[in-house]
Amino acid sequence: MTIAAPSSKIFTDRIGRIEVSATMAVAAEAAKLRAQGINLVDFGAGEPHFPTPRHIKDAAIAAIDANFSKYTVVPGIPDVRKAIVDRHAADFGSDYAIDEAIFTTGGKLALFNAIQILVDHGDEVILPVPYWVSFKDIIQYAGGKVVLLETKEAENFRVTADAIEKAITPQTKAIILNTPSNPSGSVVSAEDLERIVRLAHERGIYLLLDECYVYLNYAGKPVSGGSLTWAKEHIVILGSLSKTYAMTGWRAGFALAPKAITANLSKLQSQSTSNATSFVQKAAIAALTSSQECVAEFRAEFIELRDYMLAKVTAIPGVTCTKPEGAFYVYPNISAFIGKGGIKSATELATRLLHEAHVVTVPGEAFGTKEHIRISYPVTKANIDEGTRRMGEFLGKLT
Ligand SMILES: Cc1ncc(COP(=O)(O)O)c(C=O)c1O
Repeated sequence: MTIAAPSSKIFTDRIGRIEVSATMAVAAEAAKLRAQGINLVDFGAGEPHFPTPRHIKDAAIAAIDANFSKYTVVPGIPDVRKAIVDRHAADFGSDYAIDEAIFTTGGKLALFNAIQILVDHGDEVILPVPYWVSFKDIIQYAGGKVVLLETKEAENFRVTADAIEKAITPQTKAIILNTPSNPSGSVVSAEDLERIVRLAHERGIYLLLDECYVYLNYAGKPVSGGSLTWAKEHIVILGSLSKTYAMTGWRAGFALAPKAITANLSKLQSQSTSNATSFVQKAAIAALTSSQECVAEFRAEFIELRDYMLAKVTAIPGVTCTKPEGAFYVYPNISAFIGKGGIKSATELATRLLHEAHVVTVPGEAFGTKEHIRISYPVTKANIDEGTRRMGEFLGKLT
């Protein structure tokens, strides 16, 4: 009798379905070069260059000094959940109760957990292209089927309700909308947003609204699908304090959704991270309830940097770029250089830019397109000058 050998498979199918976040992989490669003493211009990082505002830091320091350092309830202390609800209601006219809010260790966790509780094997999730790197992998981790929704560069990568409607099938469980978008900076118009919300609501599809850049909307007044309170049942708002208040490293995010959803988010969180860091919750209260002047200041500076970067990038012969209406990236088309100098893809171009021109960018493949690179512009104007000069020199030499 032969006894079956134990399976030699170590890792699960689900971990095999995802890849290391491309932006984090780029950051790791850049860190290696920096450790060798190479002076890089970093257009890779997706974070504001400002320090966290003083009053937010002070709130965290005061909380630590007051020994606010124990576990809290899993979804966050009532005051932080109230601050989230009140801020969103004041800015967008949404209507959530405290138990319809959960505070999370970063917006990414809110998104990750929302997909885990809503998307099952075989469920389809509509995802507009270009998409933020993590969406695709998080859906795949849950066993969901990613349904990519192509957009047109000539239309500023705009996502429309008509396109979404065509992508809906009986298997559609959710739609992800990230407006303003990382990486393209494209914004869904208020009219399209309302039509998409209506579509989702009428068909019983969950609309996951990633509002990470909601305040960095340069096209007009920030809008949120959360203001359409009649569709609340099918809306999950995923928020982040990271970009709004220059708090990327603090890990502060949240979800706003009907109680049945936040209860399940809390259930999942209770078995993984438990509460988000106690004193970060106090800092978040300060951020959300104090004057929002810092948000307006950051926004004004980003608009200036966007215009500055866009002018410099499009001055490089062969590079074209749509005008981003929000977030803090430009997403130039570099197809003119594919096929030159042995470069066969945006990934190869970004790799050569890193190693030969010492400029950090993220290749479009990470966001689902093949002819672009993402450039993050929260840097100094001197860095923009130097980085685009290096890029221009490198690209100009390719034959
Ligand atoms: C579109 C989008 N959503 C969510 C996040 C997650 O932000 P955090 O986890 O820092 O709150 C990011 C961060 O880059 C992002 O770009």
